[in-house]
Order: sequence, then structure tokens, then C-alpha cells
Amino acid sequence: MPGMIVVGLQWGDEGKGKVVDWLAESADIVVRFQGGQNAGHTIVVGDETFTLSLLPSGILRHGTVAVLGSGVVIDPESLIHEIRHLRDRGFRVDNTNFMIAENASLVLGAHKHLDIFREGPSDSKSEIGTTLMGIGPAYEDKVGRRAVRVCDMANPDRLDTVVKGLVRHHNKIRQGYNGLDIQAKSVHGDLLDYAPHLLPFVRPVWKFLRESLHQNKTVLFEGAQGTFLDVEHGTYPYVTSSSTVSGSALCGSGVGPKDIESVVGVCKAYQTRVGNGPFPTEQLNSTGGKLRRVGVEIGTITSRPRRCGWLDAVMVRQACAISGVEGVVITKLDVLDGFDELKVCSGYRLMGQYLDHLPSCTDAQSKVVPLYETFPGWTQPTAGVRKKSNLPKEARAYIDRIEELIECPVTLLSTSPERNDIIRYSDGPPS
Ligand code: GDP
Ligand code: IMO
Ligand code: MG
Repeated sequence: MPGMIVVGLQWGDEGKGKVVDWLAESADIVVRFQGGQNAGHTIVVGDETFTLSLLPSGILRHGTVAVLGSGVVIDPESLIHEIRHLRDRGFRVDNTNFMIAENASLVLGAHKHLDIFREGPSDSKSEIGTTLMGIGPAYEDKVGRRAVRVCDMANPDRLDTVVKGLVRHHNKIRQGYNGLDIQAKSVHGDLLDYAPHLLPFVRPVWKFLRESLHQNKTVLFEGAQGTFLDVEHGTYPYVTSSSTVSGSALCGSGVGPKDIESVVGVCKAYQTRVGNGPFPTEQLNSTGGKLRRVGVEIGTITSRPRRCGWLDAVMVRQACAISGVEGVVITKLDVLDGFDELKVCSGYRLMGQYLDHLPSCTDAQSKVVPLYETFPGWTQPTAGVRKKSNLPKEARAYIDRIEELIECPVTLLSTSPERNDIIRYSDGPPS
């Protein structure tokens, strides 16, 4: 089997980590292709919880190779810390089960400073509400053709030239924010210190993937963030700075479209968002509070409370179309246990007109009025259920209608954070 891409269909935190870890049991390779340490992917194994930011979720599975593709932006300090942390917990991370693309770009301290300069102090209302991890500035330097890349760490002379160019650029910007200058010598020195920890993992990833796919190895492409945080297709400018949709998996790892067999999307049974920006079905009331409390909707990376609301089937349908999703995994169904009634947004009204999609303009996105379908809740819990036949009939009716609204089969349902609490629902990928 060639590749399978897994992407988020909302604003991130859909449960991609759990789904990729579950699928990785039968995959040879798991590749992250975009984003950086702004991701927080949670995997629960028994009474142990793992939160992965840069390391692909396959790293927890014995026999699976975890790969960081060229589209990922890598903070060397974070990555070294994450590797050390996982080793301390008894996991093997060496150059037989982990590799880094030599052409991936780095996130440096200067990028984090710039993120913080732009967003303001963490206790003030910031513009985008980023994770302050330097992701946007790092991608800017990448497309600006002045990034330091992983391969530069192997060549001190080249590193010196690139670092000097980047520092010159950053110091000009920093002056505008009254920031202190950074010194090229110190950035260069830090990177040379990190190099021996990372260079053993560095490979031409595109070549490894080509050879592996030719040998019929199974490759999972693990998306970070979600469709509406995509820099083009998301709720711009309230987005991240990478492309989070399935098309990005090809470019961000170095494979072609024929290597992809299926695309799987992940969404929650409701909707959440961390950070600022439009959110048509947001519930700023006791319903939102209950979803946050029961769903433990606290940001994995920044510990910010997540904004909560009803499932927006218009957005999920749009996300499925943009990524060519053929099977949807719905997570956190159990969080809806005990609600008297549930709502799902099936269309919008904007200035008296019906809309079947989320418009692109921020103003319009903020003004659309959701049109809801209402469903009876269920009393029998779904938490921990592993068989479709054991689901309450109201829960099945809820999922069946979602399948119609999003125009895509719901192939898997997740009913708890635990690794194995997953139900096969309808036919389709992942199969
Ligand atoms: P990701 O970024 O898409 O990997 O998602 P996160 O890990 O940031 O957030 C998802 C949260 O929901 C994590 O705390 C998971 O452990 C948890 N989770 C995943 N699936 C389920 C589920 O089916 N039910 C419940 N209650 N929690 C889940
Ligand atoms: P995972 O992979 C949820 C959000 C931030 C902010 C916006 C831009 O765990 O689903 P950035 O730091 O990327 O410049 O911030 O994107 N954001 C996420 N929200 N899950 C994520 O990742 C996110 N990564 C970034 O909160 O609104
Ligand atoms: Mg997350």
C-alpha cells in the first residue's frame, strides 16, 4: 500500500495524534510534513500520556520509522529536548527509527522574539493569538530565502554566511521594536552546539521515501494544525503560516501524487479553536462551558482555554473537499454524552442570502449566521464503547446525519482518549 495522508478538518486539536498513533500500529513510516513545535499531539496509552510537538506520532510504535519532512520548521533546542524526554521515558530514538530532512528550515530564538514583539505581552489581547513559538517568522525567512537549514549545521563556513545574513535582516527589524541586537557569533555557536545532537538523524528524506514506497512500505503522512488554520484555505489572517491541507504532504515530504492511496480527515464531534479569529458556531454560554469542561478543552501547548461550539458541518464539508478526504474520523463523541439536545450547523445566512460554504473574507466569516439542525441527545454513555452496535441509537442518528451533511463517510469514531477506544463505523479509508 502506498501513502495515507491524515489531516485536521477544523482548527487543530482534533485528535490527530491519537488517530495517527492508532494507524501507525500497521505503518512502516510516519512523516510530519509541515508546522513545527506549535503542534501538540496527545497519545494516551493506559495511564501514561504523551504529548508530541515535533516528533511524529509513530515514534511510540516499535518498528515504525518517524520522519520530519522538509516542510517542517525545526527548533533544534525543542527537538533535542523532546528526544531526551522520550528517551527518559524508556523509548528508543536513534538513527534507525528517526530521521530529519536535510532541507528542512530551522526555527531560531530570533523567530520567537519576533513572534513575541508582534503579538505583544502574553497577558494582553494579541493580534492573532499565536503560540509565540516563532513559527510565522521562521516560515517568512524560508520563503524569503534567508533561512538557516538543517544541512547548514554540517558546514560551519556555510553556516557562518547564512547566519550573518539572517542576523543582519533581523537586527533591522528588531530596531523597529526597540529590541536589542542579536550577535551572529552567538547564534552560530549555539547551532554548532546543537549540531552533534541532530546531524546523526539527517538524511535526504525524499530519497528514503522513494525507496521505501518502491518496496511497498506503508507511509502515513501526519498533518499538524487543521484546514482552517491553513495559510491559504483557513480563516486568514487568523491562521498559522504553513499549508495544512493534504496537498502540502507531497511538497513537505518530497513524494508524488501517485504515492498517495487515501486521504483521511479528523474532526471532533463538536468544534473548538485556540487563538483569535472568526468562529461561526462558537457558544459563549453554558453549552460552550460544558463542552470545555467535559472535553478538557485546554490548549496542549499553551494551556489556553479552547473556545468551544457546535459542530460546523459546512466547514467540515469544505475541508473534506479541499483535501480530497475519503474517510472521516470523528473524535470525542463521548464528550456529548448527557446533553439533552445537540446542534449541527448545516448552512449559513449572510445578509439575507443562504450560503453553503464559508466565505473567504474575514468580515463575512465573522458575520455569517449559522443555521442549525437539532438532534436529541442520549443518556446511555458512549465513553469507551468499541462496537457500533453498542452505541445508543440517538448517537448513530447524529453521526449518520453528519455523514450526509459532510458528503463523506465517517469511517472511524473515537470514544475516549485511550489508544484503543475506536469504533469502525462506515466503510472507507482508513481500511
Ligand atoms: P491533535 O493536536 O489533533 O493531536 O489533538 P490534541 O492532542 O491537541 O487534542 C485532542 C485531545 O483530545 C487530547 O487530549 C486527546 O487525548 C483527547 N482525545 C482524543 N480522542 C478523544 C476521544 O475520543 N474522547 C475524549 N474524551 N478525548 C479524546
Ligand atoms: P495541532 O497540531 C490548535 C493556532 C494558534 C493560533 C494560530 C497561529 O496540535 O492541532 P502559530 O503559533 O502557528 O503562528 O499560531 O494557530 N495553532 C493551533 N491551534 N492546534 C494546533 O496544532 C495549533 N498550531 C497553531 O493557537 O491561533
Ligand atoms: Mg493539538
